[in-house]
Amino acid sequence: MSTPPRRAGPGFGVYIHWPFCLSKCPYCDFNSHVVQRVEAEDWLPAYLNALEWFAPRTPGHTVTSVFFGGGTPSLMPPSLLAALLERMERLWPLADDVEITLEANPTSAERANFAAFAAAGVNRLSLGVQALDDAALARLGRTHTAREAIAAFELARKIFPRASFDLITARPGQKPREWERELTHALALEPEHLSVYQLTMEPETPFHRLHERGRLHLPDEEATLAMHRLTREMLAAAGLPAYEVSNFARPGRECRHNLLYWRYGFYAGVGPGAHARLPAEAVEGAEEGEEGATRLAVTSTRHPARWLRQALNEDGAGITEVEALRPRQVALEYLLMSLRTREGLNRARLRALSGHDIAEPVLAKLRAQGLLRTSHGEDRLCATEAGLLVLDRVIAELADALAPVNDTRLRNV
Ligand SMILES: C[S@@+](CC[C@H](N)C(=O)[O-])C[C@H]1O[C@@H](n2cnc3c(N)ncnc32)[C@H](O)[C@@H]1O
Ligand code: SF4
Repeated sequence: MSTPPRRAGPGFGVYIHWPFCLSKCPYCDFNSHVVQRVEAEDWLPAYLNALEWFAPRTPGHTVTSVFFGGGTPSLMPPSLLAALLERMERLWPLADDVEITLEANPTSAERANFAAFAAAGVNRLSLGVQALDDAALARLGRTHTAREAIAAFELARKIFPRASFDLITARPGQKPREWERELTHALALEPEHLSVYQLTMEPETPFHRLHERGRLHLPDEEATLAMHRLTREMLAAAGLPAYEVSNFARPGRECRHNLLYWRYGFYAGVGPGAHARLPAEAVEGAEEGEEGATRLAVTSTRHPARWLRQALNEDGAGITEVEALRPRQVALEYLLMSLRTREGLNRARLRALSGHDIAEPVLAKLRAQGLLRTSHGEDRLCATEAGLLVLDRVIAELADALAPVNDTRLRNV
């Protein structure tokens, strides 16, 4: 490539979405579907077309992370994943220490493919354990037991240089004491990274319908708060402090790809429903927004069969929308993402990206309320422990206080 590689900033990532699962969990509203048969030989050229669409629009970028997400991408034939990585290597320089994550379910069929995925280049596995209690797993509609999940994690750790697992907390009927036991069990496995998600009722899911009818009893506010505190305290004490609302890691073992989103970097998004954020100049004729946009939002067709047809047959590789984000939208997105993290929001970056800053009186008020902390000469904003509990409110107040700053030259940082 003629343009020199750009290494500064949050990095550049490639996300690949595999939209299929063996069964649909009743709480999940991800773009994931259960189908009789997937014709992998059709999906390969479609993904390749989409990768080819992104490459010329991100010249000079070195891939620092790749994330195969889903759905259940560990159901991909390993040869398909290998072919995608090979094409990425031809299209972009890959960083020497590129992080390549695969999401996986702990069923035995998928465990059988772990070695082949590692041989293809995957160096980080993210396993959907969800619970370490068989009754809870059954209620979540999972098709594996706790013992199988632990066996999958132990195997993953032997095969991949890095491994993490997901747990869901604040589940129906869950009590803080039970959660404490479960977390103790999780920590005994000595993970270097854990994602702990609080169960959310997503519209249109069976769980949501049950909840609406009063047939799903979620823990009350006090119990939920107790579980939140237990999670943060126990994991921090075990050397895995939170680096984002739901993510915990030993220092240096954070997921680089997710950090890229929260730091508002550039990324390609390939596959049904995938999103991407590209430099504003990447796509000609996309500047329908205001002057001075620094980001393009790229959205792909969500429905798998339709995406496949478009990606195989039409120009544009399954992409349905390319929108130039207005400076205020850029500011809002950066605010929303960065305040989820321990490192927080960098105001100099906010100004450079969007030409906006946050009005001082609102910062002073949130600080006085103990919800926000500033550091680095007021240039860095982080939510405090108390602020994280009401993060939506903090972000809404900061968003209302965003105002354009005169004479700022916007930069694609
Ligand atoms: C896209 S899923 C992929 C993982 C994989 N398919 C699995 O289920 O093991 C990523 C994670 O999102 C979390 N998740 C999905 N729906 C959720 C919900 N309604 N509330 C909380 N967490 C959820 C689960 O922990 C899941 O592991
Ligand atoms: S939680 Fe995972 S396995 Fe379950 S439906 Fe969602 S993506 Fe599929």
